[in-house]
This record gives sequence, C-alpha cells and structure tokens, in this order.
Amino acid sequence: MSYLDRLANADREHPRFVYVMAFVGALNGLLFGFDTGVIAGALPYIQETFTLSTFLQEVVTVSVLVGAMIGAATGGRLADRFGRRRLTLVGAVIFFVAALGLAVSPSVEWLIGWRIVLGVAVGIASLIGPLYISETAPEDIRGTLGFLQQLMIVVGILVAYVVNAIFAPSLLGIIGWRWMLGFAAVPAVILGVTMFFLPESPRWLVEHDRHDEARDVLSRIRNEADFESEIQRMEEISERESEGSWRDVLEPWIRPALTVGVALAVLQQVTGINTVLYYAPTILQNIGLGSAASLFGTIGIGIVNVALTIVAVYYADRIGRRPLLLVSVGGMTVMLGALGLGFYLPGLSGVVGYFTLGSMILYVAFFALGLGPVFWLLTSEIFPLRVRGTAEGITTFFNWSANLIVSLTFLSLIERFGQTASFWALGFFGVLGFVYIYFRVPETMGRSLEDIEDDLRSNSIMGSDAESSD
Ligand code: GLC
Repeated sequence: MSYLDRLANADREHPRFVYVMAFVGALNGLLFGFDTGVIAGALPYIQETFTLSTFLQEVVTVSVLVGAMIGAATGGRLADRFGRRRLTLVGAVIFFVAALGLAVSPSVEWLIGWRIVLGVAVGIASLIGPLYISETAPEDIRGTLGFLQQLMIVVGILVAYVVNAIFAPSLLGIIGWRWMLGFAAVPAVILGVTMFFLPESPRWLVEHDRHDEARDVLSRIRNEADFESEIQRMEEISERESEGSWRDVLEPWIRPALTVGVALAVLQQVTGINTVLYYAPTILQNIGLGSAASLFGTIGIGIVNVALTIVAVYYADRIGRRPLLLVSVGGMTVMLGALGLGFYLPGLSGVVGYFTLGSMILYVAFFALGLGPVFWLLTSEIFPLRVRGTAEGITTFFNWSANLIVSLTFLSLIERFGQTASFWALGFFGVLGFVYIYFRVPETMGRSLEDIEDDLRSNSIMGSDAESSD
C-alpha cells in the first residue's frame, strides 16, 4: 500500500472488539514484564531469608531465563498445533500456579524450581502475545496494536518496581518478597479469565480448515469493506499448503525471514538493555544518591521506558518500523559510547555523574522508541502462516538465550576489562546492528500478512527491495 493510500485510509474505523482482543493479548506482556522485573528488588530479602551465596543469587535470577528458553522453544510449535488462544490459557495457568509456588517456597531449591516453571510461562507469553495480536489486527493499525505487547512489558516492569517498593521489608518484615512474587497471580487470573471469553485467531482457524468459525471471528473484528477481501486472501494462502513442522522452517524461501528474526532477537539483547536496567541502581548510587533516592530514580527510569514506548506506539503505523529501528539503534549506540566515556572520566559524584546518568536515561529512551517494540512486532509479521508460531518460537528462543548469555557474562566482563570497555563493547554491537538493519530489515508497515508472505515467496522481501516497501 502506498503512502497516499495509507493516508486515505488513515481514519478507517474498526470494530471496538479488535482493540479488546489486542489488549488482552498484550496482557501476556504485562506478566512477562512483571515477572522479569520483580526479582532485582526482591533478591536482597530472599537473600536474608535463605542466606544465599552470590552464585545462588545469580541462579535465582537467571533461572527464569532458562525456563523462558524452554517455553519459547516449545511454545511456538504448540501454538501452531493447538492454537494461539489455547496456549495463552495454558500459559496463564502456569503463571498462576508458579506465582503461588514461589510465594510459599520453603527453600531456595523450591524457589529455583518454581522460577524455571514461571520462566516457561514467560517464554510462552513472549511469543503468543505478539502472534495473537498480529493475526487479529487490521493491517493499517497492526503496528500500533502490536507495540502494545512491549508497552505492557515495560508497564509490567514498572509495576514490579512499585510493588517492590510497597512490599519492602520495612512494612512486612523480610517476608515481603513472598508478596512481591505472589502478586503476579493477580494478572495471571485476569489474563486467563479474559482470554477464556475471546475467540481464536481467525488466521489460525483458516489454517486448520475451520472456515466458518474464521469467518465468524473476522466479521466481528472487521468493517464490511475489509471483510471479504481479507478472508479471501487468508483462504487463498492456507489452501496453498497445510500446516508446517519444524523442518519446514528451514526451507530456503523462509530462511531470509528467519535470519532477520534471529539477528534482531540477538541484537536486542547484546546491545545490553537488561544490563543497563539492572545496572541503573548502582550507577545512581555511584553518583552519590542515597538508597531511597536510588529507588525513586529506578522508578523514574521505568517511567522513561514506558513514556517513550507510548511515543513509539504512536509512530508505528505512521513512519514505519525501519525508521524507528534505525533511530533507536543509532541513538543507543551513541549513548553507549557516552556511557563508557562517563565511566572513563574521573569523579562520578559531580558533573560527570550527571553526564553518565543522562546518557543512561537517553539510552533507555532510544531503546524504547524502536529496538524494544519492533523486534516483538516484526517476529510476528515476517513468517508465513503455516510455520508462523514455530518460526517465531525459534527467534524468541534466541532472544532469551542471548539475554541469558549477556546476564551471565557482563559482570565478569566489567571485572576483567572495566566499565568503559564493557559498555563500548555493547556499542560495537550497536554499530553492527545499525548497518545490518539498514541493508537487510524489511518494512512491513501497511502491508497485509499475506502480502508479506507473497514477497517472501518471490524472494523480494529482504533483498534489494528492502528500502522501497511500496
Ligand atoms: C524487551 C526485551 C526485554 C527487556 C525489555 C525492557 O521486551 O525483550 O528483554 O527486559 O524490553 O524494556
């Protein structure tokens, strides 16, 4: 669709129900964000309860990532086999049970076990949210609705910071951490109950030859003008081939999409977002803020993350995914350079401290504007229907694996090479990423999932056409 066509359609009305579906799909993101964000604040109190070594503290922290790798690797295939809705329901049940399990864990072994189980649900949520949203959203607002997943992730992280502050031990003794971790049961119930009343993705229904149901669902989420043409395109595509399996993901024509997905998955993590978020309180303390002020500072960074993600939501279907990505990765790279410089200059408690703090805040802002939301959106858009879940599961698996590797190695990297070199190393990945995005990542704004699939099949999506999407 050309820019002018898009403008002409800009104010197209869509039934409200499609927004409800997107919102509930994005609740997956809320749980993902909360459960990954809550541990940093809870850990000091868990440590007091069980007197953990540094090693065990690390294990408690990263066990959720290991679970998420398992959830992502298996969840994609299950989503293709059993449906997006059913897998969301299974995920919600796991979230709920794990939250309660964590809250009553009698020992650190139990805690680690439940964190792995929880991680499986996080892995599932990370891929099923974007998938459900992309497959139900009208094409002209698919970016906006798809970005809701990342918006909910960052809101979840922020809620976790706030819950950490509320249940801090001064109020509840050292068992405060049990409330922090158990709190996640609440959104889990909301996700499960609301999804129970929503229908399956029409595209998945078509793929499984349930055409009447698909028509029924689509008629509730499309205006009359869009309905016929869209259902026809979906049926056309699904008639061509039946549901694919693991092996089909490696077919040569799908490979370019897989490469882009995996590259973005890894790039999103090796440019260090989680390290910087995790490092924020330390930096705040280094520049001389007390622990209460650092707590508020951390919440402030969470707010920046949310605010700029909202800006991204606004622009997703207006300027497109590629420009957002390029501005984002470019900006992050410069800020990583500045951050490294800040640690190089003497005296973190004066002006240099504020320079470092400013670089960190801008780094998070640039991430929120593009690399954060765009990866989750693109990975749900670029794969053909018959293997969409499976392929998305693979890219998501790489995202969690890279997250784990960075989490496990960054502190040792700092110990060995110092902070400046370590942040510059992250910046180096940013440079590589920028070049890669410029030459290889396609624009998907304003195109139907079926058109994207056709492009992939005719080999024009990732090649020289990448820049001219119209
Ligand atoms: C993205 C990343 C996740 C990170 C979050 C922070 O969702 O995938 O790892 O924690 O952004 O905003």
